[in-house]
Amino acid sequence: MSVDLANPILSVLARRKTARPPVWFMRQAGRHLPEYLEVRAKAKDFLDFCYSPSLATEATLQPIRRYGMDAAILFADILLILDALGLEVRFEAGVGPLVEKVEAPQRLDKVPPHIVADKLSPVYETVERVRSQLGPETALIGFAGAPWTVALYAIEGRGGTEKTEARLWAYQAPDDLDAVLSILVEATAHYLKAQADAGAQVLMLFESWAEGLPEAVFQRIVVEPNKALVSRLRALGVKAPIIGFPRGAGAMVGAYVAETGVDLVGLDTAAVPAHVNAALPEGYPVQGHLDPLLLVAGGDALDQGVRALIESYRDRPHIFNLGHGVRPETPIAHVERAVTLVKGEV
Ligand code: CP3
Repeated sequence: MSVDLANPILSVLARRKTARPPVWFMRQAGRHLPEYLEVRAKAKDFLDFCYSPSLATEATLQPIRRYGMDAAILFADILLILDALGLEVRFEAGVGPLVEKVEAPQRLDKVPPHIVADKLSPVYETVERVRSQLGPETALIGFAGAPWTVALYAIEGRGGTEKTEARLWAYQAPDDLDAVLSILVEATAHYLKAQADAGAQVLMLFESWAEGLPEAVFQRIVVEPNKALVSRLRALGVKAPIIGFPRGAGAMVGAYVAETGVDLVGLDTAAVPAHVNAALPEGYPVQGHLDPLLLVAGGDALDQGVRALIESYRDRPHIFNLGHGVRPETPIAHVERAVTLVKGEV
């Protein structure tokens, strides 16, 4: 792994402790920024926004300009891959994303993986444009949804906390679910390789719907496909460090890290530092996990939360982040305050 020591995010990913944790926030580009709302208004719809390199580049760079974040995350969405696989994907205001449901794995088998990746070429152009406008000290993170989370949208037609239908597949049609997950592993590997080739220095896997699963199911539908994706990427020659974010993994976080081969684990809001520190090997790097509501609340609660989190991971390499995305109602001044505190500028 080549390491640029002038880039604190890459240093942490190479298991080096940094003088202060580098910082970026999930969903740092988004509706809490007035300049984001202006750019979004120029696009026909959200898919068009993601597929317009000039607009997506602008959205990616906005939080870097405003806050001086240590990483930019590509502006795109985890559901683009389902659009490229031929499913209808819509983003409804106030409802969230809606996806055409698959009844059987064959529905996803029509487009070969490298063609899926080719269809997403506007995303790679965004990556190139963003990289050329970032300084060497700022890392560019590419990403994709992890297989189970993307499969959930394809099976249920929307995201969900209950996941009843998708979980029933795990028991009633495990071979079908495995087939869907394998198709997604292969397509996603090509998609992420193309992002890395275009200039993404870090790749992040969003496993947003990993909570509430029994151990054996978690093992089969989260750990195994994430592990397969990491090995497939390495087999394709991708060298970029990989962040896994199994949101809600809880007590399974140790197994996820030990078995998937991700280089760093992203932790969610409910993660317990004492448990995390006991479950992970010494020196293994983590990212997270401030409650996004503290960024809404501000004041002493925010200051204390930021300081406590830095203290919790003082003994291991740590990228400071939220436990989930920035909420639209977040005041800009609170984001500024948190970043200033992490950077030790107060
Ligand atoms: O700043 C960034 O984080 C970069 C871009 C990014 C988006 N989506 C843009 C987006 C990233 C990394 C994602 C990942 C994503 N998308 C996830 C995983 C992370 C998580 O939140 O758990 C998931 C589950 C999705 C699916 C998705 N896309 C949902 C559930 C929604 C609606 C939620 C909402 O906030 O409205 C989207 C739309 C979406 N993706 C928005 C953004 C900025 C909001 C669109 C808008 O109204 O402007």
